[in-house]
Amino acid sequence: MKTFSVAVLPGDGIGPEVIAQAVRVLEAVGERFAIRFEFAELPVGAAGVAAANDPLPPATRDVVIQSDAVLLGAVGDPRLDTAPRALRPETGLLALRKLLGVFANLRPVAVHPALSNCSPLKADRLQGVDLLVVRELTGGLYYGEPRGRKEMRAINTLTYTAPEIQRVARVAFEAARGRRGLVTSVDKANVLEVSQLWRETVTQLAGDYPDVRLEHCYVDTAAMRLVTDPASLDVVLTENMFGDILSDEAAVLAGSLGLLPSASLGSGPGLFEPVHGSAPPLAGRGVANPIGAIATAAMLLRQGLNLPDAADAVDDAIAAALYAGARTQDLARPGEVSIGTTEMGTRIVDLVLAEALEGLS
Ligand code: IPM
Ligand code: MN
Repeated sequence: MKTFSVAVLPGDGIGPEVIAQAVRVLEAVGERFAIRFEFAELPVGAAGVAAANDPLPPATRDVVIQSDAVLLGAVGDPRLDTAPRALRPETGLLALRKLLGVFANLRPVAVHPALSNCSPLKADRLQGVDLLVVRELTGGLYYGEPRGRKEMRAINTLTYTAPEIQRVARVAFEAARGRRGLVTSVDKANVLEVSQLWRETVTQLAGDYPDVRLEHCYVDTAAMRLVTDPASLDVVLTENMFGDILSDEAAVLAGSLGLLPSASLGSGPGLFEPVHGSAPPLAGRGVANPIGAIATAAMLLRQGLNLPDAADAVDDAIAAALYAGARTQDLARPGEVSIGTTEMGTRIVDLVLAEALEGLS
């Protein structure tokens, strides 16, 4: 039997609740496709601080680098908002991304037909929306030195090298080949030298991909286009900070931040986490939408373990559950009944297994 080791880092807030459902779905997939998953559960973020006074404890580091893929819930805890940087949950996530060398963060956004009334945007704007944000993840302002604060003066540094730009741009061009063949590179080249290097480097690289169309877009314009004409976008390539902001904006198109998955890829094990955060107000109430985490498990199967059939089975089960009317509170319209986190997980697990029965007959 094929066996894969998956490091599971539930993290903080709603992380543990939604990741529990993603793991149930992976177990169902294992049953259906005769795959064995060896799960190792480890703390990260505030959970790491609680367990080992470290948002990325050494034991977690050791296991993730040996695993085939890493499934992460969310990090963040308002109680640590004023903690020193070394003890902040987000510091653990940034260190984890760096440790795994996952420089390309893929955030697909599509509008499920059954949910076109969930977005605040008018339904006609949402027709045909299917885009992929490719966000650079291990450089830029998040990591630049010098950084720090001295009383009433603070500094962060934005820096990128051409090789850092090239490797993430390649991921975007390759992805565009399997999609509609358009890369929109987002920068602020009218103001920033880093963006000028970004634009120059991406333009040069485009020569290797004559079958892909490249356009450039300033980040302010891109922010506007995401809500005025989102269907005109295919692959959106951008640096770390712009990508953080634009991917949350893009999530609005899908109807809820709770739906969106992401994959962070480098040369080692991939890191898979839903786009939503720890959502403190929802934590512990059993109401959070687990679909982002479950769709993230599908990306783990597809991009992390190269199991496209298993990934399709999960994506199909999510779509079928939504068509059948399953709605967590973030998706329920006035008058619609909503179900909790575990119930949504159960519906999707049942559909993964039901498809298996269909296949047998
Ligand atoms: C994200 C999150 C993180 C980021 C935070 C939690 C550090 O917002 O994954 O988008 O800014 O990258
Ligand atoms: Mn973010």
